Amino acid sequence: MQKNDDFEFDKIIDRHNTNSLKWEKYALQDIIPLWVADTDFKVAPVIQAAIEARKDHAIYGYTRANRQSNQMVADYYQVKHGCQVEAEWVVWIPGVVASLSLAIRSLSKHHDQVLTPDIAYPYFHSTPLASGKQDNHLAMSYAQGRLRVDLEALEAHDAQAARVMLFCNPQNPGGAVYTQSELERIDSYCEANQLILVSDEIHADIILDKDKFHLPYLSVSDHALQNSITLGAASKAFNIAGLACSWAVIANPSIRQAFVNEMHGIVSEINPFGYTATLAALTHGEPWLTAMNSYLRANRDYLIAEFSLLPDIDMLPLESTFLAWLDVSKLQLDDPCKFFEKAGVGLSAGRDFNDANYLRLNFGCPRSVLENAMARIKTALS
Ligand SMILES: Cc1ncc(COP(=O)(O)O)c(C=O)c1O
Repeated sequence: MQKNDDFEFDKIIDRHNTNSLKWEKYALQDIIPLWVADTDFKVAPVIQAAIEARKDHAIYGYTRANRQSNQMVADYYQVKHGCQVEAEWVVWIPGVVASLSLAIRSLSKHHDQVLTPDIAYPYFHSTPLASGKQDNHLAMSYAQGRLRVDLEALEAHDAQAARVMLFCNPQNPGGAVYTQSELERIDSYCEANQLILVSDEIHADIILDKDKFHLPYLSVSDHALQNSITLGAASKAFNIAGLACSWAVIANPSIRQAFVNEMHGIVSEINPFGYTATLAALTHGEPWLTAMNSYLRANRDYLIAEFSLLPDIDMLPLESTFLAWLDVSKLQLDDPCKFFEKAGVGLSAGRDFNDANYLRLNFGCPRSVLENAMARIKTALS
């Protein structure tokens, strides 16, 4: 059994000059980038070995998933999340954001409303609009420090004849992991309003609380299974987002066919490295993932302890993801992001997620980098 130390999560790896979105933003500036959601960890050795073996073949033509790889995804749902998925329900696609758009376009008509969490990953708001629909925002709750769709408000919410509801579980930002009873209430609402739910579960395998577990929406009821699209990927948990590979699980054949039709002429084949890395992650990645989650848990706990010393910033006690959600409203800053950039720390602006009182901090990095960032934050506030 490999230990944390074997995976070198503490090691600082220079990512400059690699066209990294995260690092190039502040190239030539002394700003620690803790924004976009990829981590600064090297991939699991099993993934690197699989990519190297694939690279050695030296022919990188069009790549097509087969029944065997669909079955690996189905097995992953069975083993990891205890739910039944059939190989033929799996559709491969380069990215989850593309799937959000395809789902919206294939399931709703022009100018339809699309229900979406009010505070969410920015594409939850931009893809309905870019697809010619109107976004109909669902109120959120911060009760018990868990940012999630407000279920009382949802049950009273007028769905305005929308056909599609977008959903993020675990929730980004905020990292809440929805419980069985929360999911059941959402399913009942969808059934009452004849909604197809598109469940973005890209962060499903980054669970920090030991007593929490991810429940795929499709496992909640037969209605949920037959009236949903579940989006998954190894990209966040295994830090392979740049390799552009994900999947959709669609049990209902007519929804699946509509989705696949929408891909025609727009979505290209998945790339061979993303495919290889994803399969290696799903089949052999568990020891590395367990170690990464425990490293992230320690980083989260470190941050909670540090921010508890700073009365002007409140950090939400997240259950999942490596993305801390920080309430900076007490600081009354015109531009919180700029303020911390001047202090040498690059965070994501809460306004991009629709809550300008917050900033998002990506703690998927070596602890020493976080310590450096915290020292800068403290200096800026002192
Ligand atoms: C909730 C959520 N969905 C989707 C994505 C991006 O997915 P992809 O890169 O596969 O398009 C992210 C990236 O941070 C995310 O947080």
